[in-house]
Amino acid sequence: MKLVQTVSEMRALCRSAKLSGKRLGLVPTMGALHAGHLSLVHAARSRSDVVAASIFVNPTQFGPNEDFARYPRNLEDDCTILEREGVEFVFAPSVDEMYPKGAVTWVTVEGLSDRLCGKSRPGHFRGVTTVVAKLFHIVEPDFAFFGQKDAAQHAIIRHMVRDLHMPVSVEVCPIVREADGLALSSRNAYLGAEERKSALVLHRSLMRVQQLYQSGDRDSAKVIAAVKNEFAAEPTVRLDYFEIVNPDTLEPQSRVEGRTLVAVAAFAGKTRLIDNVVLGA
Ligand code: PAF
Repeated sequence: MKLVQTVSEMRALCRSAKLSGKRLGLVPTMGALHAGHLSLVHAARSRSDVVAASIFVNPTQFGPNEDFARYPRNLEDDCTILEREGVEFVFAPSVDEMYPKGAVTWVTVEGLSDRLCGKSRPGHFRGVTTVVAKLFHIVEPDFAFFGQKDAAQHAIIRHMVRDLHMPVSVEVCPIVREADGLALSSRNAYLGAEERKSALVLHRSLMRVQQLYQSGDRDSAKVIAAVKNEFAAEPTVRLDYFEIVNPDTLEPQSRVEGRTLVAVAAFAGKTRLIDNVVLGA
């Protein structure tokens, strides 16, 4: 496995792999790898001849009062894991390498970037699409792998790829959960024992939605009201949003009809967690 820190070396390695006819898969990450990331690596392995992973805690997707400074970083452990998984290239650039002094160019997917997490984290998705566009230009992957947990993120990236005619196929892999249902996230490491327990309300609320759906309830307002009751019973968790939207446009749906994304974000203590389920798939 080769650890690469500069754009020029990463570009040269990836180009040469592609010139020799290899299909290249990219797994973009911010490190602090867990089994969710590994499922992306496995999917990349099964679709590609060469797998590249990036590890970059991207400052532009964090708000001023968010956790950029304390976001878990452990490049050595992450590299050990990726080496074991047979990843060929790990791209771990510095902030200055990714954002050269004076960089003022942004990639914004208008409209969608202000929905769901974009509403409560202004500028977050602009940071994501800018860094992902940079990674796509550097690596030029045939496939790029993202997790369903960040449902809005992959909808926005798919839109960017379409609008900018980027020659990459965006692949989405299922959410990986702990045995008790908590969706895996690098931020779970912040949770104390009590917070960890109360955070299960996110998954519980989505299970409740599935039950309502199965029993024929299609009215979004009614479903949202039922879910708010679940959260009311767990007062230590503060609901940020619970929305029923179109999975491609992220626009609210008044009825749960056709493919529908039900997405939740909430704070357990200071830790912001997200989760979702797709109905009618
Ligand atoms: O999902 C993430 O880890 C990040 O948002 C990504 C896609 C690596 C961009 O920084």
